[in-house]
Amino acid sequence: MKRRRYQGSDVARALTIEDLRQMAHRRVPNFALEYVEGGAEEEITLHRNRSVFDDIALVPRTLVDVSERRLGIELFGRPSALPFLIGPTGFNGFLTHEGDVRLAQAAAKAGIPFTLSTVSTAALEDVAQRAGGRLWMQLYLYRNREWARTLIERAERAGYEALVLTVDIAVYGNREWDVRNFAKPMQLDLRNKLDVLMHPRWLFDVMIPHGTPHLANVSGLLPPGKTSTRGASPVLGRLHNASLNWEDVAWLRDIWPRTLIIKGVNSVADATLAAQYGADGVVLSNHGGRQLDGAISPMEVLPEVAAALKGKLTIMLDGGFRRGSDIVKALLLGANAVLLGRAALYGLGAGGGPGAARAIDILASEIDRVIGLLGTDCIAGLDPTCIRWRAQGLLHGSNVGEEGHGPHLGPEPMRTPHPEYRE
Ligand SMILES: Cc1cc2nc3c(=O)[nH]c(=O)nc-3n(C[C@H](O)[C@H](O)[C@H](O)COP(=O)(O)O)c2cc1C
Repeated sequence: MKRRRYQGSDVARALTIEDLRQMAHRRVPNFALEYVEGGAEEEITLHRNRSVFDDIALVPRTLVDVSERRLGIELFGRPSALPFLIGPTGFNGFLTHEGDVRLAQAAAKAGIPFTLSTVSTAALEDVAQRAGGRLWMQLYLYRNREWARTLIERAERAGYEALVLTVDIAVYGNREWDVRNFAKPMQLDLRNKLDVLMHPRWLFDVMIPHGTPHLANVSGLLPPGKTSTRGASPVLGRLHNASLNWEDVAWLRDIWPRTLIIKGVNSVADATLAAQYGADGVVLSNHGGRQLDGAISPMEVLPEVAAALKGKLTIMLDGGFRRGSDIVKALLLGANAVLLGRAALYGLGAGGGPGAARAIDILASEIDRVIGLLGTDCIAGLDPTCIRWRAQGLLHGSNVGEEGHGPHLGPEPMRTPHPEYRE
């Protein structure tokens, strides 16, 4: 048997997020790919964010009429066309020209929210004007409070409906592979300079016509002439605020009248505090394995957080979502919605706006198929008993395993099951 993926660059022929990832790897130079793909240190958390999905089994129901299926959800009191949205990622302009605008346009067209990073390469006003749709603004609360206040006022004026405060980056993660591509800070080594020259499609899209992308939202923080990503990164590194704490959340709550979301929570204790300090939602996240290596995966925390806070707080999460079935598993475990990180970036890197739209379409059609096969016709109708942790005694006592006729799910793993789902 010879299995081979499509080797061309037509994003319409990508069937999976992995296909888009491989296309992006052909189009984008190594240093930019490393920034997207890499995790901290041994990348244990990066890998765990993916492998956790293998530990969860779906238990389908059958003989249910699923001829009409609906994928819409309600998120913060408004309809959203799909149970996922686009999460914040910085430096998107390195994947394709005007990456943020392209991604936001794809999200608006699909009827889902888009989150703009503080360190985006497009100004928040530009994205609002050219993309429209539901826009959320991610905030890194640097030490300069006046700058933060101005940014928040700008977001409010431009119609952003939510502020997403990222709280897992008080100290910058140790991404060693990223550092190794540079001879000195922000200066590529010779190997990577040559690699850039080997990527003409990318060069003629990003660098040659437009030069190094600029960080359009943080210019007020940077000395004149230092707003290109090259000049900005070291300055921003020095502005990181390691003293960030819950009083800062209280300050934000006071000045931001709309939806407030805390991103980077990994425990029931912190999710509870987020609710107490007036947040409307949390994103369980380990920053895609880019910050604390060894950190627990959001999927492992989700059942506890949902048990403690469902209904009091909108519960979202991200990390490793590459398949519709991954997203459905999160919904079954109590999430209100999932944020895409790299999955959307692979589309953007593979083929700009059309690539991003293709990533969204692929996941939507996978979710549609998965819920149909599970025996459910809408997201709200997903039955939480349709899931088991793949752990000792997994299928015993469940509807598929009782008689010994259940699907074979491989050797019994050694992991302790999550308490909520222990059979
Ligand atoms: C290239 C890249 C840039 C990111 N930039 C930001 C950012 O500016 N702000 C933020 O809150 N999170 C940022 N993140 C984290 C994502 O929002 C998200 O938590 C993570 O990507 C989820 O994991 P996944 O990529 O495996 O889906 C970034 C992630 C990546 C991969």
